[in-house]
Amino acid sequence: MSNKEKETNWNEYYTERNNSNLGSGLFMFILGKIMGVTSSITEKRILKMLDKHVDKNINLIIEAGGGDSCFYSVFRNHYKNATYLALDSSEVGISVFNKKYASDKTKALCENILDMSHNNYNGDMVFSAGLIEHFDTVNTAKMIKSHFDLCKNDDGYVLMTFPTPTFLYRIVRTTLEILKSWQFHDERPLKLGEVLEVSKKYGTMLESKLNWLNPATQYIVLFKKNKIEN
Ligand SMILES: C[S@@+](CC[C@H](N)C(=O)[O-])C[C@H]1O[C@@H](n2cnc3c(N)ncnc32)[C@H](O)[C@@H]1O
Repeated sequence: MSNKEKETNWNEYYTERNNSNLGSGLFMFILGKIMGVTSSITEKRILKMLDKHVDKNINLIIEAGGGDSCFYSVFRNHYKNATYLALDSSEVGISVFNKKYASDKTKALCENILDMSHNNYNGDMVFSAGLIEHFDTVNTAKMIKSHFDLCKNDDGYVLMTFPTPTFLYRIVRTTLEILKSWQFHDERPLKLGEVLEVSKKYGTMLESKLNWLNPATQYIVLFKKNKIEN
């Protein structure tokens, strides 16, 4: 994006989140409660979609933008044998993740996914929650491509969730902005068409679902990567 001061400061976000300084007041309390209930339903929806299309014995799950991942424990319980790799450009997010979950099957690495000098990653499933909407259209397209690049060539899957500009999304965001509790200044809620237009160059869509239960109204989309013939 062109306006530098408006970029989300992810290091600050994770520092505050770690100190549980997420704002106060009745609206924030109610929103926090709603998020608690709806996130477990969201997790179930994601797993249900994956179970329909993806073999449960996958080897490597890569979470793009996975610093201090909210989804790690859910995936860890569901895919017990898989290695989990979180890639994120925020040093604080990576450090919080590594302190919480360090084990031989889990690791978080600092990596700018938009600008990887190498790509030695071969994920069976590449996943992101709340990442691709934090860029202008050019870099959103680049970030979507990176998901497919991180994925292995044969039998690889990409799952992304992102907010979409529904009426409910606008009400929640505007209220949080008025309360000065909105931290994601560069978030650009995405229409499904924009994501499909880019993703169809690299993969075939298996399923999409609009998740109204998340107050930020998130799409969940799952693709199978198209095999690149050499
Ligand atoms: C909304 S957060 C994701 C939240 C986290 N996955 C969770 O479950 O709580 C978006 C993440 O993307 C990361 N990010 C933003 N730009 C990135 C980039 N170019 N490369 C890697 N990670 C990036 C941020 O540091 C942040 O951790």
